[in-house]
Amino acid sequence: MIRKCLFPAAGYGTRFLPATKAMPKEMLPIVNKPLIQYAVEEARDAGLQHMAIVTGRGKRALEDHFDISYELEHQIRGTEKEKFLAGTRELIETCTFAYTRQVEMKGLGHAILSGRPLIGDEPFAVVLADDLCLNLQGDGVLAQMIKLYKKFRCSIVAIQEVPRDQTHKYGVIAGELISDGIYRVNSMVEKPAPEDAPSNLAIIGRYILTPDIFDLIADTQPGKGGEIQITDALMKQAQNGCVLAYKFEGLRFDCGGAEGYIDATNFCYEQLYLKGL
Ligand code: UTP
Repeated sequence: MIRKCLFPAAGYGTRFLPATKAMPKEMLPIVNKPLIQYAVEEARDAGLQHMAIVTGRGKRALEDHFDISYELEHQIRGTEKEKFLAGTRELIETCTFAYTRQVEMKGLGHAILSGRPLIGDEPFAVVLADDLCLNLQGDGVLAQMIKLYKKFRCSIVAIQEVPRDQTHKYGVIAGELISDGIYRVNSMVEKPAPEDAPSNLAIIGRYILTPDIFDLIADTQPGKGGEIQITDALMKQAQNGCVLAYKFEGLRFDCGGAEGYIDATNFCYEQLYLKGL
């Protein structure tokens, strides 16, 4: 079954400069918890135990976050502040964390390929931590996708309907609806202009990938923006066999930009933080 989750976190985060000049985008807090911790919790809640993080230069804070800080913990021991570290501590104790570096930032596909030594030859999940997904009503998005994987055993991308004038920010799919919210993908275009978009179904930062994707990425030439695109490799997988697109239940905030980040902060403050969740 699926045991590992890959977190590509090597991007420059240029939309959030200057905050991301010396700090990873994934460490930006939503209220008092960094994005990467929400992402790891979503994976853990989906039953995944092994976290594989693709980092780059200036991303050391990610490793330090999932490690024990003896001085700090000694300092707050026995005080009511201890509870603020309990969640992080639990993740450190129940999950494993492995890291590799993407030496050149050649795109999301390339970042996923850089994670190959940490994943090996097994199906795995991918979470982009700057897409914060929350479902207060039930299973998290990754848990929903894992259930689907158990049934179909092929790569799955999470999708969301977006306004037509936003398609240029996403990979966009065309597919045939095979059951409620589930499409069999037959075409995929990276960041199309609205007039070229095959639909308004945009891929967001959650994937389940079968391991044959690695060879397909290795064979993929740089595409849009000179980057190695995961959508190009997924398109080949869809042509050879099957890729599903899944319209998930829940909310998604694009925390890579100011607007989504502020929306996420307000939502989490009201719905989680103030309620002590
Ligand atoms: P983005 O498209 O959001 O790029 O990457 P970015 O560099 O992080 O941010 P902006 O657009 O400059 O503000 C989507 C995801 O893919 C990862 C990023 O860390 C992010 O999680 N990524 C992207 C890599 O790990 N390596 C890359 O070469 C590119």
